[in-house]
Amino acid sequence: MPTINLTEEATLAADICFKPYEPTALKQVFLTGASGFLGAFLLAELLEKTQAEVHCLVRADDDIHAAKRLQTCLERYQLWQADWQNRIHAWAGDLAEAQFGLSNATWQYLGKHIDSIYHNGAIIHNFFPYTRLKAANVTGTETVLRLAAVDKTKPVHFVSSMAVFFSQHYLQQGKLDEYDLPVDDGTLKGGYKQSKWVAEALIRQAQARGLPASIYRPVRILGHSQTGVNANLKDALCQLVKGCINLGQFPDLDVRINLVPVDFVARAIVALSMQPKALGRGFNLYNPESTQWPDFYQDLQQLGTEMDYRLEQLGFDDWLAALQAKIDAGDKRQVYTFLRLFFRSPNNLLMKKPALHSPDMWQLLQELNIICPEVDVALWRTYLRYFQAIDYLTDVGD
Ligand SMILES: NC(=O)c1ccc[n+]([C@@H]2O[C@H](COP(=O)([O-])OP(=O)(O)OC[C@H]3O[C@@H](n4cnc5c(N)ncnc54)[C@H](OP(=O)(O)O)[C@@H]3O)[C@@H](O)[C@H]2O)c1
Repeated sequence: MPTINLTEEATLAADICFKPYEPTALKQVFLTGASGFLGAFLLAELLEKTQAEVHCLVRADDDIHAAKRLQTCLERYQLWQADWQNRIHAWAGDLAEAQFGLSNATWQYLGKHIDSIYHNGAIIHNFFPYTRLKAANVTGTETVLRLAAVDKTKPVHFVSSMAVFFSQHYLQQGKLDEYDLPVDDGTLKGGYKQSKWVAEALIRQAQARGLPASIYRPVRILGHSQTGVNANLKDALCQLVKGCINLGQFPDLDVRINLVPVDFVARAIVALSMQPKALGRGFNLYNPESTQWPDFYQDLQQLGTEMDYRLEQLGFDDWLAALQAKIDAGDKRQVYTFLRLFFRSPNNLLMKKPALHSPDMWQLLQELNIICPEVDVALWRTYLRYFQAIDYLTDVGD
């Protein structure tokens, strides 16, 4: 696998420059990735909390198909409201294409009329190399910055990921302050994380050229805190829960887990983006209470009695051996092969994460009345009930 020099990759085209920013009322918004998990909740939150019309870039055959995809997606996540239809404009396009593949007229129209951009779309894949993700995640971000510069300058709200910090620098430092920036020490592994790192660096270069922009870095995003709706089912923690319940065995690990419900992330991003003093900042969106592994086990074990499964705890090596034995015995469940592969990769759940400190952000979120839900047995009950409702736990495919 070729080594990627992140700093060299992060060079914003010289012709992207910004006129002085003059704030305007939020009447038209541009959103990427609205057909995805977080994007759908961002779209709903923007429609609910503002009067703005939202222009969404959606991969589709044409604009009608794009609108249908959005509606289907909002319905699936129990978000759809018929009276939103007139405020949603769906544009068929692709992050990986020049001008997103939009006609020149549409590109100019959007450049002139939109007041703010929420760039949330990206390809999320743990095993794809950087080269395969670059067009959508990096060049797509550069195209977002081009759009921000067309006609009037408009703020960009970029959804990044906490994973940009998972290089040796912060792992060894052991703590991460809210104003710390991702560093390139050559140790950030994984094409997805690398692509988010480079995209963020492009945003910072645009900031240096006068663009008002903010960066939001969620940790692992799981289901809605009330409905449990979750589309992040390929996530390693979801697969671990599924695999353990199928196996009846749970590994004893010395780690903490940190996750945030999707509704908290969407609310936080939209509310922070409305605060003029928040422009130019980066926000690490994590759960202020990370979960100790034994508490996680206890919650899942307790829920087994109501949800008809049994779970026992094994030492990690014994658990891995039990998993391997199932695979060797011809058990074809994809979750088992995923977990075996996952625990062999260097950046798995066992990686120690830096301690997180963001007092200013939590103060601001408190002022905005946004509280991150606690990850407790009640939340896991909501999540597992959703898993059962969609047959996630019994599905042998992926
Ligand atoms: N999920 C997490 O735990 C997590 C954690 C931290 C940060 N994030 C960040 O949050 C954002 C949203 O993640 P998610 O979990 O909602 O992912 P998701 O469900 O996979 O959604 C990704 C969205 O991006 C769109 N997209 C991908 N490639 C595209 C392209 N070439 N052109 C146009 N649109 C494209 C997808 O469109 P299609 O529907 O056509 O595929 C989809 O709408 C991402 O930026 C991700 O990096 C996620």
